[in-house]
Amino acid sequence: MDVTFKIKRYNPEDPEHPKPYWQEFTLTDVAETDRVLEMLHRIKWEQDGTLAFRRSCSHGICGSDAMRINGRNQLACKLLMKDVGEHVQIEPILGLPVRKDLIVDMEPFFEHYRTVMPYFINDDPVPEDGRERLQSAEDRALFDDTTNCILCAACTTSCPSFWANDRYVGPAAIVQAHRFIFDSRDQAATDRLNILAHGDGVWRCRTIFNCTTACPRGIQVTRRIGEVKLAIAKGSPEGIVQVEDIVVE
Ligand code: SF4
Ligand code: FES
Repeated sequence: MDVTFKIKRYNPEDPEHPKPYWQEFTLTDVAETDRVLEMLHRIKWEQDGTLAFRRSCSHGICGSDAMRINGRNQLACKLLMKDVGEHVQIEPILGLPVRKDLIVDMEPFFEHYRTVMPYFINDDPVPEDGRERLQSAEDRALFDDTTNCILCAACTTSCPSFWANDRYVGPAAIVQAHRFIFDSRDQAATDRLNILAHGDGVWRCRTIFNCTTACPRGIQVTRRIGEVKLAIAKGSPEGIVQVEDIVVE
């Protein structure tokens, strides 16, 4: 099939286009099983070598190619052409400064990420037998979902609360905090809950569910934010009841 791509372009060094603008490209012989990332490669390699976008693994693992495709944040490498149709609109994810074309500055995103101490903290001596710090399968299951995050930013940049206030720490940072808050081996849950209880923390979440819909890893983002809110309200992550998965169409 023939497919038309409408791509938002921006080059701060192009005096002819001081503002972002849309440019159309048409590709022929597109198969339904082609992925959107492959089509961006074709445009770049066959039609316009100046088109800039970020990608690395091409397999949904590195999280570098989140972009807004037909109005929804998605990974270009995971999305098949049969699911986007013959007219495709692509623009950078929203809420972060655009550097060039589809490439945004991720530093503000990672600045929020770093504030939640996204690393394991346990000051106890390593067990003398040299074994790992053990935990039960039930305790491990409490944060299994949030270990899947690949920091693609699709959730945070689909969140109207983040668009309105870029000081909001955002869903991705809360997901990363959740992964350690609910880890029975970690000792800094209270510190993280205190960080997320501030004015630009979890309470900025208005339960809009865009984040859950956007997550390419299927993480129940809104639900995990809710669990962190409950832990703050209780003063502890212990005893937070896990409910059935929420399916968002
Ligand atoms: S929670 Fe999902 S959408 Fe958000 S950064 Fe992690 S993988 Fe991406
Ligand atoms: S290129 Fe790595 S997730 Fe898409």
